[in-house]
Order: sequence, then C-alpha cells, then structure tokens
Amino acid sequence: MANEETYLQNLLANRKIVRNYIETTKEFPELKKVIDYAIKIPTAGFSRGIEFVHVSKKENINKLAYLANEESYVEKGFNKWISNSLSIYLILINEKAYHDRYSEKDKKNSTQSSDWIVPYWYVDAGAAMMNCMLLIEEIGLKSGFLGSHNMKSAEIKSLIKIPESYQLLGFVTAGIEGKASSIKKNVPKKKITHYEYFNK
Ligand SMILES: Cc1cc2nc3c(=O)[nH]c(=O)nc-3n(C[C@H](O)[C@H](O)[C@H](O)COP(=O)(O)O)c2cc1C
Repeated sequence: MANEETYLQNLLANRKIVRNYIETTKEFPELKKVIDYAIKIPTAGFSRGIEFVHVSKKENINKLAYLANEESYVEKGFNKWISNSLSIYLILINEKAYHDRYSEKDKKNSTQSSDWIVPYWYVDAGAAMMNCMLLIEEIGLKSGFLGSHNMKSAEIKSLIKIPESYQLLGFVTAGIEGKASSIKKNVPKKKITHYEYFNK
C-alpha cells in the first residue's frame, strides 16, 4: 500500500537517542556484527579514515562510563546510561588517512584535504554513526550518542589503546530502553525540510 512505511523508513522513524538503559544479563550476539556493516560508508577519496572499536566487556564498559563522568550525571538526577550499555562503539577519525590519500598522484589536481571548506572526515564519521544506530535499532535495541566533548578522551584512548593521532568522535551506545527520567525538555517544532525552494 502506498501509505505504508518501508522497512528503512520505519527504522528511521523509530530511531531516537536513548540515554536510559536497564540493567540486563540478556545477550545479543548480533551486536558483534554491527561494526562490520556500520563501516560500510563512503569516505572522501576512499580514504578509509574512519574506524570503529566495539567494546562489550562489562569491565571496560564500566571504565568508559567512569571516564565519561557518568556519576556526575546520575547525581544530577539523570538515569544510568553508559554503564548499562550492552555495547559501546567508539568512532575514530584518522585524519592523516585523508591527507595521505589526497597527496597521491591521482588527487594532485583536487582541492587538497587541508583546504577543504568542510572537513570530510567529520562527514564520513557521521555516516558511520548513523549506520551504527540503525543497525542497533534493527536488533530491537535503542542507540544513544555521547560526544567526545563530554568525556576524558585522552584517558579513553590510553585505556582502549587507540593511537594518539586518532580523534575520538564519541560513543554510540546500545541498550534496552528503561523508563525516562523525570527531567523533560519542551522543544518547539522547527521547520528543517524544504521543498523546491528554501523560502516560498
Ligand atoms: C554529533 C552529536 C553529538 C551529540 N552529543 C551528545 C552528547 O554528548 N550527549 C548527549 O546526551 N547527547 C548527544 N547528542 C544527542 C543530541 O543531543 C540529541 O539527543 C539528538 O539530536 C536527538 O535526536 P533524536 O531524538 O532524533 O534521536 C549528540 C548528537 C550528535 C548528532
């Protein structure tokens, strides 16, 4: 039927950032495969400068929660989030891969990566983030995203043994949604899709 949502439309319509997961001992082996598909992104010049680390051991998840200052959020009345994740996917940006690629022979006539108006490594990282979230949604879990501005990046990189030159974009989290905290924001609607012309 014309009005029915497609599978992808339905996944997109249901995805939302969830920051409250319940504790569970349930296992979701599908979580292991997420990064094999999440990484299937186009990258500028096929630089392949985006990488993932899948963290699933409880011990490491707890360490990441600590380094993401979870305690201070819980003290403010927010739900436990990071430490109750079943998996955490770290999105990494290897900017050097882009500069190396764009200094190759066939890219000599292109605008050099250091002069890009929009740094494409962030574009590619965003695509990886979205793939990851949709794959989590497909498993029947809910995804969240915590940006690296809210965590101790250097300590996380050292814990996970990530090369110093890589940037950490943040964590995509996966878990089972719990009850929302009582802190609710009233966000007004905003027109962000336009047809044919931006303004009438
Ligand atoms: C790049 C980026 C960074 C974000 N950083 C954070 C963050 O650090 N902490 C957080 O709670 N949410 C973060 N979010 C989530 C957004 O604040 C917000 O929840 C999201 O836009 C709501 O979308 P949704 O309800 O459609 O999922 C981030 C989202 C994006 C795309």
